[in-house]
Amino acid sequence: MLDIYKESDPALQPGEARCPGPSAQELLAADGDNPPDALKAQNYQFLGDEDISWERYTSQAFYDLEMAKMWCKTWQWACREEHIPGPGDYYVYDIGDHSVIVLRDDRDNIRAYVNSCPHRGMQFCASGTQGRGKQFIRCPFHGMSWHLDGSLREIPCRWDFPHVKDEEFGLIEIPSDTWGGFVFINLDPQAKPLADYLEVLPDHFAQWPLQDRYTVLHMEKVLPGNWKMCMEGFMEAYHVLATHPEGLRASSWANTQYDCFSPHVSRFLQNLSAGNPHFEKEFSQAELFEFLGHNPAELPPGKSARQAHADILRQTLGEEMDVDLSTVSNSEMLDSIEYHVFPNACFFPGIVIPLIYRFRPLGIDRCIHDILLLRPRPDHGPTPPPTPTVRLGIDEPYVSVPGFKENRLSYVLDQDTDNFKRQWAGIKASAKGAQTLGNYQEARIRHFHNTLDTYLQA
Ligand code: FES
Ligand SMILES: [Fe+2]
Repeated sequence: MLDIYKESDPALQPGEARCPGPSAQELLAADGDNPPDALKAQNYQFLGDEDISWERYTSQAFYDLEMAKMWCKTWQWACREEHIPGPGDYYVYDIGDHSVIVLRDDRDNIRAYVNSCPHRGMQFCASGTQGRGKQFIRCPFHGMSWHLDGSLREIPCRWDFPHVKDEEFGLIEIPSDTWGGFVFINLDPQAKPLADYLEVLPDHFAQWPLQDRYTVLHMEKVLPGNWKMCMEGFMEAYHVLATHPEGLRASSWANTQYDCFSPHVSRFLQNLSAGNPHFEKEFSQAELFEFLGHNPAELPPGKSARQAHADILRQTLGEEMDVDLSTVSNSEMLDSIEYHVFPNACFFPGIVIPLIYRFRPLGIDRCIHDILLLRPRPDHGPTPPPTPTVRLGIDEPYVSVPGFKENRLSYVLDQDTDNFKRQWAGIKASAKGAQTLGNYQEARIRHFHNTLDTYLQA
């Protein structure tokens, strides 16, 4: 056994120490199947080791500053393109007090409008709703209406509004664009293009076209903590040791690779099927195969558990999804590969872990965690439409969701979210007043806060 509890080597500079055992890159190389270049990329820099104040999570003033200077300036995905497939289809995206209607007009353009009537402020469509085939946008309060291109259509009792000029009474449109099948919006009329904002992401995802996937599950769950605290619970694999001791038994969590590619984009790459130095003893490949859910006696001679597991899933999942997975590398098949795009979105390109996350604040001490599961479109036949959103309250577990409870991920996510109530209570009770991060495994959290500061200080 490797000595995993030894103190840091004083010869190393801060941030240089790594867990003993094979690195993520060595594990990928051992697969011998030449994964995409994006998975071979690495970018870690030591970003400092100062504590980060809990005030950033608990202060109303900080929340207000985030809302004014960050949420109003950043690109956020609002929905999938398949949520609004035809003219007049719409989807309401809410962030803080802001509400936006994303819709497809009758010329097939996707547009985003502020969801507030120019007359007396009524929301055109209720928060959290979506719908199909609107001919125009009609306010439910007094019946004023607008064409799908945002121009004024009708003011009932027009004689009473001689001071209103039609051309100055259109809907307020905000920037919108698409990437990977997602519709993004930005509340800042002067926003720079989405493609620039996404930095390395489009390049990395060139081989993982999320626009060719479809939504098989969409859940929205309320979480009991500040949005950053909850999101950060998904940005490191350090917690696997204590939070997921059984469910992720075969995970190389301690050898996860962390990359901070650019201000808006970071990533972790966690190998889920090769074990790690924190195992209490050395395990055989047959035992690893068993941890992965198979009969250890059926491990083909000479094959690693990871290889055999990937081969089985390429076959069985490929048949189930009607998709040819024969050329998908082991890492893309099996690993937990999470890209974070500032401020609140995570995109997983993997096949077994095809998650999409979004975290949105509900005041200081609650947030909404959206989870989408995406699948590659079937090779034959039509692509199924997106499923309705399943909404879960704070105490409703993911294992209660039909179609998800059969998935091992539902148990893992429940373990994650079970932490949050106590973590939030502990943060508020903290006498220390700040968190202390690991230099490597929690680097993405520090990187996120650095980027947040660039917005707040602008
Ligand atoms: S508030 Fe919309 S028509 Fe009056
Ligand atoms: Fe977790």
